[in-house]
Amino acid sequence: MTMRRLRGLIVGIAVLLLATGAWAVTDKTSIAGKCMTCHKEKTPALYQQWLGSQHAAHDVTCLDCHKANRGEPDAYMHEGALIATLVTPKDCGRCHEREAKEVGQSYHATAGKILDSKDAYLAHVAGGDPVAVQGCEQCHGTKVKIDPKAPNKLSKKSWPNSGIGRINPDGSLGSCTTCHTRHAFSKAQARQPEACSKCHLGPDHPQKEVYEESKHGNAYYTHKDEMNLDAPKWVAGISYNAAPTCATCHMSATKKQKVTHDVGQRIAWTLRPPVSKYKPNHAQRRANMKDVCKSCHEKRFIEGHFHQFDATVRLYNEKFAKPAGELMAMIKKKGLMKHKAAFSNKIEWIYWELWHHEGRRARHGAAMMGPDYTWWHGMYEVAQHFYFEFLPEAEEYGDPEVNAWIEKLLSENPMHNWLDRPTDELKKEIRSGKMQKTYEKLYQGD
Ligand code: HEC
Ligand code: HEC
Ligand code: HEC
Ligand code: HEC
Ligand code: HEC
Ligand code: HEC
Ligand code: HEC
Ligand code: HEC
Repeated sequence: MTMRRLRGLIVGIAVLLLATGAWAVTDKTSIAGKCMTCHKEKTPALYQQWLGSQHAAHDVTCLDCHKANRGEPDAYMHEGALIATLVTPKDCGRCHEREAKEVGQSYHATAGKILDSKDAYLAHVAGGDPVAVQGCEQCHGTKVKIDPKAPNKLSKKSWPNSGIGRINPDGSLGSCTTCHTRHAFSKAQARQPEACSKCHLGPDHPQKEVYEESKHGNAYYTHKDEMNLDAPKWVAGISYNAAPTCATCHMSATKKQKVTHDVGQRIAWTLRPPVSKYKPNHAQRRANMKDVCKSCHEKRFIEGHFHQFDATVRLYNEKFAKPAGELMAMIKKKGLMKHKAAFSNKIEWIYWELWHHEGRRARHGAAMMGPDYTWWHGMYEVAQHFYFEFLPEAEEYGDPEVNAWIEKLLSENPMHNWLDRPTDELKKEIRSGKMQKTYEKLYQGD
C-alpha cells in the first residue's frame, strides 16, 4: 500500500467515524474541548456560567451532559459529535443517582399529568391551546416532542420548557434546571426561596407570598447575608441560624435527616383538593417536619403551631368545604343547572374559587405562618363567598329541596346559625366563650 492510499484510508475511516458519531468515543477530549472554544465566542454568557460552576471545576464538560446515544429520538450530529439539547433527570442521574431517583419518586414528577384535570379542561374551553402551553405547562411541564419538520430537533410548541413534571422523550419526568438554573447549576441558588417562586405563588397557591409575610421570610430577607448559602453542607443550627427558607423546611438536611429531593417527605396533609385529607404515613411525615423546626424552636412551641394549623384545616373542611360540596352534588344530581358543559354556569365558578382559590389560601397561610393569608385573603373570602354568593346562587333555582337544605344548615348547624340572631346576643356568646366551645372539637391530638 502506498503512503497516499494509506493516508486516504485513514481519512476515510475518520470521515466514517465522524459521520456515525463514533468519533465522540475515539477522540472525546478534543471534541469536548471544541464545544467550549467555539461556544465561548458564540454564546459567551452561557460559557461563563458553566466556567464558574462546580461542573467546570470538576472537569464536567459540555459533552458530558449533552452527549447522546444513537437511536435516541432527540439525538443529532453537531460539530462532529452526537448530542441532544435536552439534559434530562436521567442524564444528570448518570452522576447524581440519588437526586434523580428522589426527584422521580416525588409528587413533583407527576405534575405533567394534568390533562385530565378540571383545571386543564377549564384552560382549554375558557382559554385556548396557546395559554395552556405558556401557562399551565410552563409550571407543570410539557410532553416534549420532536419537530416532524426538523428531524431530531425539539418541537417549538413543547420547548423551551422547564416544568417541574416535564415528560421527556427518554421517559424520565421533570427537569433539574427548574431549581438549578443553567449553566451555573448551583445548590446555593436552590436553597433560596426564589428557586420555588416561579410556580408557588398567585391566587391558588401563594406559598411565596405567605413566606414573605411570615416572620421566617422577614428574618430571612433581613439576614440574608448571614445565611451561609454557599456552605458545602447546609444544616440549620450548624451552618446558619437566622431563618428557614422553603428548602430548609421541605428539602435540606437536619442533624438527623439527609437532604431529600422528594418534597413530600415532610408534608402530612394535602391542602390542594376541595376537602383536605391526610397523606399516607402522615404521622412519619409530620415527625420529619417537626424535626426541622427543632433546630430553632422547642417542642411545646412547635406542637402549638401544628395544634392551631390542624384545627384551621378542619375548620375549613367541616364548616365550608363539606357543606359546599354536598350542595353542589345535590344541584348536579337534580339537573338544576341551565347549561350542560362543566363551568358553563356561574355557580360552578363560585364553587371553584371557594376551594381552589380562597380555600387553599386559608390553608396555606395557616400551614406556613402567614396570618393575612389565613384570614383576609383566605377564610374571610371563603365566608363572604359562601354566605353571599354561593348560597344565594343556589337559592336562585327555586328548588324546594335545595332551599330546605340551606335553611336547615343556617338554622340548625351551630357553626352557621348566626345570621338571623341579634348581634348583641352573639357578642355575649363570644365574650362568655360559649361560641368558641362550638369549635373546640376541631382541636385534636397533642
Ligand atoms: C464551531 C462552533 C461550535 C462548536 C465546535 C460547537 N458548537 Fe454548539 N452551537 C454552535 C452554534 C453557532 C449554535 C447555534 C446554531 C445552531 O443551532 O447550529 C450551536 C448550538 C448548540 C446547541 C443547541 C442546538 C439546538 O438546536 O437546540 C447545543 C446544545 C450545543 N450547541 C452544544 C454543543 C456541544 C455539546 C458541543 C461540543 C460537542 C458544541 N456545541 C460544539 C456552535 C458550535
Ligand atoms: C451539568 C450539565 C450541563 C453542562 C455541563 C452543560 N449543559 Fe448545556 N444544558 C444543560 C441543560 C440541563 C440544558 C437545558 C435543556 C433542557 O431543557 O433539558 C442545557 C441547554 C443548553 C443549550 C440550549 C438552551 C439555551 O439556553 O440556548 C445550549 C446551547 C447548551 N446547553 C450548550 C452548552 C455548552 C456549550 C456547554 C459547555 C460550555 C454546556 N451546555 C454544558 C446541561 C448542561
Ligand atoms: C459527568 C458527571 C456529571 C453530570 C452528567 C452532572 N453532574 Fe452535577 N456534578 C458533578 C460533579 C463531579 C460535581 C461536583 C462535586 C459534587 O458537588 O458532587 C457536581 C455538582 C453538582 C451540583 C452542586 C453544585 C454546587 O453548587 O455545589 C449540582 C446542583 C449539580 N451537580 C446538578 C447537576 C444537574 C442538574 C445535572 C444535569 C443537568 C448534572 N449535575 C449533571 C458531576 C456531574
Ligand atoms: C405559576 C405556575 C402554575 C401555573 C401557571 C399552573 N399551575 Fe397548576 N399547580 C402549580 C403548583 C405550584 C401546584 C401545587 C400547589 C400546592 O401544592 O399547593 C399546582 C397544582 C395543580 C393541580 C392539583 C394537583 C393535585 O394533585 O391536587 C392541578 C390539577 C393543576 N395544578 C393543573 C393546572 C392546570 C391545568 C393549569 C393551567 C390551567 C395550571 N395548573 C396552571 C403551579 C401552576
Ligand atoms: C424543587 C427544586 C429542585 C429540583 C427540581 C432539583 N433540585 Fe437539586 N437541590 C435543590 C436544593 C434546595 C438543594 C440544596 C439542598 C441543601 O444542601 O440544602 C439541591 C442540591 C442538589 C445537589 C447537591 C448535593 C446535595 O444533595 O446537597 C445536587 C447534586 C443536585 N441538587 C442535583 C439535582 C438533580 C440531578 C436534579 C434533577 C434530577 C435536581 N437536583 C433537581 C433543589 C432542587
Ligand atoms: C418553617 C417551615 C416552612 C417554610 C419556611 C416553608 N414551608 Fe411550606 N409547608 C410547611 C408546613 C409545616 C406545611 C404543611 C405540612 C403538613 O401538611 O403537615 C407546608 C406545606 C407546603 C406545601 C403543600 C401545600 C399543599 O397544597 O398541600 C407546599 C407546596 C409548600 N409548603 C411550599 C413551600 C414553599 C414554596 C415555600 C417557600 C416560599 C415554603 N413552603 C416555605 C413548612 C414550611
Ligand atoms: C416549575 C414549577 C415549580 C417549581 C420551581 C417548584 N415547584 Fe413545587 N410543585 C409544583 C407543582 C406543579 C406541584 C404539584 C404537583 C402535581 O400537581 O403533581 C408542586 C408540589 C410541591 C409540593 C407538594 C408535595 C406533596 O407531596 O404534596 C411541595 C412541598 C413543593 N412543591 C415544594 C417546592 C419547593 C420547596 C420548591 C423550591 C425549592 C419547589 N416546590 C419548586 C411546581 C413547582
Ligand atoms: C432556622 C431557624 C428556624 C427554623 C428551622 C424554624 N423557625 Fe420558626 N422562627 C424562626 C425565627 C427566627 C422566628 C422569629 C422569632 C420571633 O418572633 O422573634 C420564628 C418564628 C416562628 C413562629 C412565630 C410566628 C409569629 O408570627 O410570631 C412560629 C409559629 C414558628 N416559627 C414555627 C415554626 C415551625 C412550625 C417550624 C418548622 C416547620 C419552624 N418555625 C422552623 C426560626 C426558625
